[in-house]
Amino acid sequence: MPTAAYRLPPGPNTPKLLNGLTFLVARNAMVRRLQRRYGDVLTMQMPGFGTMVLVMRPDLVKQVYTAKADVLHGGKNPLGEILGPGSLFSMDEDRHLQERRMLLPPFHGERMRSYEAIIEEEALREMASWPEGVEFASIGSFQTITLRIILRAVFGAEGRELAELERLLPPLTTLGQRLVTIPILRRDWGRRSPGARWKRMHARYRRLADTLVEQHLADPDLGERIDILALMLRAQLEDGGEVDKADLADELLTLLVAGHETTASALAWTVERLRRHPEILRRLEDEARGEENALRLATAEEVLRVRPVINATGRVVMKPFELGEWLVPPGSSIVTGIAPVHHDDRFHARAERFEPDRYVGRKPDTYAWIPFGGGLRRCLGAAFAQFEIDVVLRTLLRSFELQATSEPGERESFRGVAFAPSKGGAAVVRRRPLGQAEPESAALMTALNS
Ligand code: HEM
Repeated sequence: MPTAAYRLPPGPNTPKLLNGLTFLVARNAMVRRLQRRYGDVLTMQMPGFGTMVLVMRPDLVKQVYTAKADVLHGGKNPLGEILGPGSLFSMDEDRHLQERRMLLPPFHGERMRSYEAIIEEEALREMASWPEGVEFASIGSFQTITLRIILRAVFGAEGRELAELERLLPPLTTLGQRLVTIPILRRDWGRRSPGARWKRMHARYRRLADTLVEQHLADPDLGERIDILALMLRAQLEDGGEVDKADLADELLTLLVAGHETTASALAWTVERLRRHPEILRRLEDEARGEENALRLATAEEVLRVRPVINATGRVVMKPFELGEWLVPPGSSIVTGIAPVHHDDRFHARAERFEPDRYVGRKPDTYAWIPFGGGLRRCLGAAFAQFEIDVVLRTLLRSFELQATSEPGERESFRGVAFAPSKGGAAVVRRRPLGQAEPESAALMTALNS
């Protein structure tokens, strides 16, 4: 197709670097200003993205998320560069589809629910050390909980390996994110340089991941194991293929990076929003006394709408792509603005208000509620994350009284992968008498406290 046929939406012609800098310091204000001036779809130059088309309207978001796999590839997700070729983030088209098909089942339905005991146990274990009556940043605890849940449910780790991975992975992923942001740091400039540290830490990670694979392969009960590594191994063995330890290690690390900080941040936002909406909190406490969870699920959906932890998703155009009245050329990037769509009164009544009831008994709109992105690359762990939030929040409500506050809401702060509340979801709690917790939880809590 001749270049002249391409039609890009209008947008500012300010230089790439300036756009990048403005974006870093005033992302929301910049996007709002551009949307007012150019409308719901606009083009701009962005460092790392080149020609970038920003989409902020559900009908256009739908076109992006329903495009074929050979027309739009996964975005230039910088994490893919350090996670390796065996990561879903690095795959497209057939290989991507095949990998997703293999990974999806345990993240849904009954298989997913088999992780409930692990989730509740990890929540109770961590919450046992919460102080009473003094403010603390809940996000640290939620990170510990979500990390241990992934290490047990996904990696199938226990004992020494669980403890070592728990120590190694937070600094490893933090360093990895830094290297992604500043690529020059990836070089090995000598023993103490970030590049050399990354190599050492990653080699240690590989040794631990390989040990886990070997332990799984030697386990006579591999067929009965419910962790996701076991499932991946069984799929590889059934295919008659060789077990590719490097690919397995890449994918496990991907699931950890994608699923740990995101879910922890969403939980911290839940605490932050609920402390400022005591009437919802009271109703949730009532609900948590029984087995219903309609309001709790709706609350999690509303938190992810008003405070999405990932603000945008990206795609790369591989073949000419029709977007509304525009024809976008290959090589461009398409970014869907999650936050702009979520915060727009045209798509959500009283969009700035926190009103979980809008989702009680009603599913959010597929293309106006997009905290997990959409289409072929929609978050693989979306259902798992929502289940995890539900069980952790239920455990919190049953074990503690969360104290309301009249302080202004916490601001957004970027933590490498996700946007989290700036004070880490500051919490003040009082422990409930054990009698109010479910009998099994009460027994576990007593054991953990003793
Ligand atoms: C509240 C928690 C979470 C949020 C808000 C979230 C959000 C997202 C978003 C926005 C994407 C990009 C989707 C797109 O490009 O259309 C994504 C991708 C992904 N997420 Fe999540 N995520 C969460 C939790 C998890 C969990 C718990 C896991 C797994 C343990 C996970 C695994 C993944 C993977 C593997 C991808 C890449 C999918 C692909 O490229 O095919 N996420 N997530």
